[in-house]
Amino acid sequence: MIQDVHQHVGEEVKIGAWLANKRSSGKIAFLQLRDGSGFMQGVVVKNEVDEEVFRLAKSITQETSMYVTGVVQEDTRSPLGYELVVKSIQVLSEATDYPITPKEHGTEFLMDHRHLWLRSKRQHAVMKIRNEIIRATYEFFNREGFVKVDPPILTGSAPEGTTELFHTKYFEEDAYLSQSGQLYMEAAAMALGKVFSFGPTFRAEKSKTRRHLIEFWMIEPEMAFTEHEESLEVQEKYVSYVVQSALKNCTIELQTLGRDTAKLEQVKAPFPRITYDDALTFLQEKGFDDVKWGDDLGAPHETAIAEHYDKPVFITHYPTSLKPFYMQPHPDRDDVVLCADLIAPEGYGEIVGGSERIHDAALLAQRIEEHQLPRDAYQWYEQLRQYGSVPHAGFGLGLERTVAWISGVEHVRETIPFPRLLNRLYP
Ligand code: 4AD
Ligand code: MG
Repeated sequence: MIQDVHQHVGEEVKIGAWLANKRSSGKIAFLQLRDGSGFMQGVVVKNEVDEEVFRLAKSITQETSMYVTGVVQEDTRSPLGYELVVKSIQVLSEATDYPITPKEHGTEFLMDHRHLWLRSKRQHAVMKIRNEIIRATYEFFNREGFVKVDPPILTGSAPEGTTELFHTKYFEEDAYLSQSGQLYMEAAAMALGKVFSFGPTFRAEKSKTRRHLIEFWMIEPEMAFTEHEESLEVQEKYVSYVVQSALKNCTIELQTLGRDTAKLEQVKAPFPRITYDDALTFLQEKGFDDVKWGDDLGAPHETAIAEHYDKPVFITHYPTSLKPFYMQPHPDRDDVVLCADLIAPEGYGEIVGGSERIHDAALLAQRIEEHQLPRDAYQWYEQLRQYGSVPHAGFGLGLERTVAWISGVEHVRETIPFPRLLNRLYP
């Protein structure tokens, strides 16, 4: 594999590859090869190969698949550090008129060809970074003693409010696609202590922004015997770990994307914290006169706050009225809850939402009533407070927004293999 060539310098190797791009002159052809694991340049020198091989190298078309045999050689000019001096080529399947050429294409065209666009160097880099974040996530939580638990996708209740639910049918009954596994993860935390999930979630949000997907993947840890502040400590440690892992293990990919890694180097715990109250004062001082106490913070507000710091920042203690029914009230104030949103730097917005959960049975029942939620559907959730209730907290990290931030790509549509957007269910 291309990613292992450093172990084979000076050796003859045979790799299965596609032609990503090509350049040639009279006596030499440069083949940009990709094998899935990486990209590498193959050099075909006219005088050093059979006539037939050179003829093939000059005529081979983009995305043709082949076996290439050659000798690995150091090449300090390439990001990989190696190139292949080609000896022979065996074509497997010729590709004619590949639609994505090295010229510029519009986004809609590329999105229509997402199944092919994934092969590009840039998309390859983003997917490798996504994979590294997932890998580091499992590593982090396993080391910290968390157990992976898988909540259901087909559900009968709505943790984050009913407006954004995807309806479906469960035989004769109504069902919803999960918008968060949290309520189930709370049950799991009471069984296993510290748990985390990683799975798809669905939001029928009519938002057409660079941060919103209809289907996205979330990592949701939940911890028994844990209060608000301890949860923030886990969050900052986790996010730092993921960023530092990507810096360490995705150097080529970050370079391919032209990411300014100096900004990522600074992402180390602890992260700054600012209360919602102080955030409002800050915004008003910055000239935002459109926000008053009780309003949700929009993307421009989050960006203005984030710009003030060089690390992600926690905005804590939002008004109770803005947040879901399950959040624990502040011990001294009824109008704010023990929650935090983590805002990424560089305008990437909220990447984590979390809170301490209500552990008092009577208060939870009251909140469910106030939110006019069906008590029946939440009976099992209320029982978690009837049998050995404990303070507990958790959070959800949006994978795609995190990938966008670490990769430095503008829009979340490039951070998931097949994005589901307001106007896109295909391919
Ligand atoms: O803030 P949210 O809605 O929180 C929850 O769902 C909690 N139940 C999580 C928990 O405490 N277990 O979503 C969490 C994160 C957001 O911070 C954001 O990163 C991401 O999920 N997210 C989205 N990502 C892409 N597209 C969307 N439409 C998203 N909505 C939320
Ligand atoms: Mg949120």
